[in-house]
Amino acid sequence: MKMLTKKIEKTLNDQINAELYSSYLYLSMSADLNGRGLAGFAQWMKIQAQEELYHAMKIYDYVLERGGTPSLGGIDAPPSKWKSPLEIFKAAYKHEVKVTGLINKIVDLSIKEKDHATNNFFQWFVKEQVEEEASADEIVQKLKLVGSSGNALFVLDKEMAARPPLFTFPVSGE
Ligand code: FEO
Repeated sequence: MKMLTKKIEKTLNDQINAELYSSYLYLSMSADLNGRGLAGFAQWMKIQAQEELYHAMKIYDYVLERGGTPSLGGIDAPPSKWKSPLEIFKAAYKHEVKVTGLINKIVDLSIKEKDHATNNFFQWFVKEQVEEEASADEIVQKLKLVGSSGNALFVLDKEMAARPPLFTFPVSGE
């Protein structure tokens, strides 16, 4: 199989950066949620940060597999404060829509450059983005329903805590 073209290699490296930024952004959102005493929402968002790290690693490994060279640039600092939990999830949804646009551009480029392997590889991400947008939007809708009810927010926070982590770290000292 032919190696990645320089243009595709550069775009994939940019996408590794975008996924790592997403991870950074969601970890920052998780910290904000934690500061509000919403441990369940914070946990959900922390797992979302893990998902993004996984996405970055998936592309990193693909670049290597195709004989390319991963090149890691600086990661921008994400915002650290939002107005409300609703604003956080609205921002997360908006961010996912932006990432979908980036993924679609990669697929467009792979078609233009007749790189069928990259096209095929990124179909997984096309499907993943449908889920990513839907899950963020679902929480936006729930938070809108909850409105200013502290009780309902508390119940929803418990529900959010049920999301299982993608991976766990060993406890320090063991
Ligand atoms: Fe890596 Fe949330 O898309």
